[in-house]
Parts: sequence; C-alpha cells; structure tokens
Amino acid sequence: MIWTKSLETGVPKIDEQHKELFRQADNLVDKTQTGRVEATLNFLKGYVAKHFSDEEILHRVSGYPKADFHKKLHEEFSRALRDMFAKYQAAANKQPVVLTINSAVAAWLREHIMKHDKEFAVYYLAKQAGTKK
Ligand SMILES: [Fe+2]
Repeated sequence: MIWTKSLETGVPKIDEQHKELFRQADNLVDKTQTGRVEATLNFLKGYVAKHFSDEEILHRVSGYPKADFHKKLHEEFSRALRDMFAKYQAAANKQPVVLTINSAVAAWLREHIMKHDKEFAVYYLAKQAGTKK
C-alpha cells in the first residue's frame, strides 16, 4: 500500500494529497491495536472529501470536458466509503472491516489515479503550457 512514483500525475497539489491519502490508509492498519482507528477514519473521511473537492475545482477552472463524469466517480467512491464506515460502526469484530477499508481505499485510489487523475493531469498540464506561451 505504498505510494510509488508511477502514481505521480505531475500536478503537485494532487500528488501531495494522494500521498497523504495513502499514508492515512496505512495509519488505519497501524492503529488497529492502539484504538485510534476511529480518529483516523474520521480524518480520512474529511480528507477524501477535501481532496475530491480540490480536484473538482481544478477540473472546473480548467474547463475539463470530463469534469461531470469524474465527479460522478468521486461521488460513487464517497458513497462506498460511507457504507464501509457504517459497517465498521456496526461490526462487533472491527479489525477485518478496517483491513477491508484499508485495501479498498488503496485499490480504488490506485486505479482511479492511474486512469482518471492521470488523464486529467495530461489535459491540465497541456492547457497550462498552452496558456503560458
Ligand atoms: Fe479524482
């Protein structure tokens, strides 16, 4: 579950936030023994929302043609995350749910970044290069 250079989009703000998301998802697993899972889950929930909204602002200001589609993907994942958190709250044995959340966040992020965030980054960086000329 480690952030690797192949996940870099080239947009510094997005990359920084992605790294933080991977760090927090890992914290989740480290903290299973220390009782700080709840705090990390809450942080993760807030940070995911902030990250999605920051990305969507970049989409809008740059006139990204796939902004609506991308926003829909974010909404789907936010919903899935909410469901997983509810499962965590309800579970008697919480550790397996934490592990599921950890791997689901990592897997979703990896795929989403490789496909959709990188596609946006190509558009965004080209557009920026164009406007600087
Ligand atoms: Fe995204």
